[in-house]
Amino acid sequence: MSNPPRIPSTEFAARRAALAKALGPSGVAIVFANQECTRSRDTEYPFRQDSDFRYLTGFPEPEAVLVLAPGHAEGETTLFVRPKDREREIWDGYRAGPEGAQADYGADRAFPLEALDTELPKLLADREVVAHTLGVNAEQDRRVAGWLNAVRAQARNGVSAPNRTLGLDALLHPMRKHKSAAEMELMRHAAEVSARAHCRAMRESAAGVTEYQLAAHIHHEFALADMEPAYGTIVGGGANACVLHYIERGAPLAAGTLCLIDAGAEYQGYAADITRTFPVDGRFSAEQRAVYEVVLAAQQAAIEAVQVGADWLAPHRAATRVLTEGLVALGALEGDVDALIEQGAQTRFFMHKTGHWLGLDVHDVGSYREADGSWTTLAPGQVLTIEPGLYFAPDNPHTPERFAGIGIRIEDDVHVTAQGPEVLTAGVPKDPDEIEALMAR
Ligand code: GLY
Ligand code: MN
Ligand code: MN
Repeated sequence: MSNPPRIPSTEFAARRAALAKALGPSGVAIVFANQECTRSRDTEYPFRQDSDFRYLTGFPEPEAVLVLAPGHAEGETTLFVRPKDREREIWDGYRAGPEGAQADYGADRAFPLEALDTELPKLLADREVVAHTLGVNAEQDRRVAGWLNAVRAQARNGVSAPNRTLGLDALLHPMRKHKSAAEMELMRHAAEVSARAHCRAMRESAAGVTEYQLAAHIHHEFALADMEPAYGTIVGGGANACVLHYIERGAPLAAGTLCLIDAGAEYQGYAADITRTFPVDGRFSAEQRAVYEVVLAAQQAAIEAVQVGADWLAPHRAATRVLTEGLVALGALEGDVDALIEQGAQTRFFMHKTGHWLGLDVHDVGSYREADGSWTTLAPGQVLTIEPGLYFAPDNPHTPERFAGIGIRIEDDVHVTAQGPEVLTAGVPKDPDEIEALMAR
């Protein structure tokens, strides 16, 4: 394979420069890396870097702190990182240390973590606005307050502290919403591997195979490509597909039922998010196919609606219309389609929205509305999921008997471009004949 795609260091620098520009000369931003999180006693959950911190630095280690101080005489980017520590590195692995933070991660200045309480107040001094992620992590809020108070304590020396705080999200998340060419390479790579994993799970499906075993095939395919699941894999056989965030995965798949898999890999922090629904033993029944074709038509209509300048809800409206028409044709709803949509009758079987932004977070950051409250408009470089579904849970009193236990969702990842929607996840079939052909091989 050719060299795996990466975000070049120049791009991280450009992101920080854009944030510095948005902050202005009187602003300063503090961005925290994630902490390790205990799983049990002295073992930790696998570490996953904070997405904002990763976006700005690419720095992979826990506990670090980025301070971005526009116009600072010694450079705008300061990183506080774990010190080099031979003993800890023998046990836990490599640390970049302050030198590595400067040499490899674009820091103008870098300090060990123990310097935080002395150096950080200096970086806040005589600035007016401090931006950080407000109110998400109480410990981080407390630390920022402590550093602000340390600056205030120097008032008699003529030093002034920032008197305004600003949510970092408002500056940073509009940037993250638009993916660069390098980010798109990573997202395509995550999408391709995820599609391959779904194809493998379809081929491995058979009555008696457990949900857990299909998840194992998916995760093995991710791991072979040096990727992790981007979120908790869902494998739901039969009526379990009607539980939207089904996580148990224990059941054996039953002949004659459908299986829904919602799984995506994460590559260098960037997520894919794919759902496919297929017949456990390779052939759709007439009822399953009838419902499937409605969901597929809704998904295709929604993808067509992913056009530059369309409003955020256009794909959802398109999916809702096709699903509601289909529910009437299937006999699951009765009445005039417009009136049914107006009443929300389709939500008996389609109870979620059609998608979400996708990027460093599977439910990625970025607003869905404009400042005036209207839905935001789709623009080139955005990536979203399109994932309509129909769920006929057996215990739903509205479920027609012949569809009981059928749950279907089809989810693709779509890049908004001036040339129309680019489906990143086309590597796994969704046409029912193509699914049957793949499973027959
Ligand atoms: N996998 C979570 C979602 O589809 O939103
Ligand atoms: Mn999704
Ligand atoms: Mn999903």
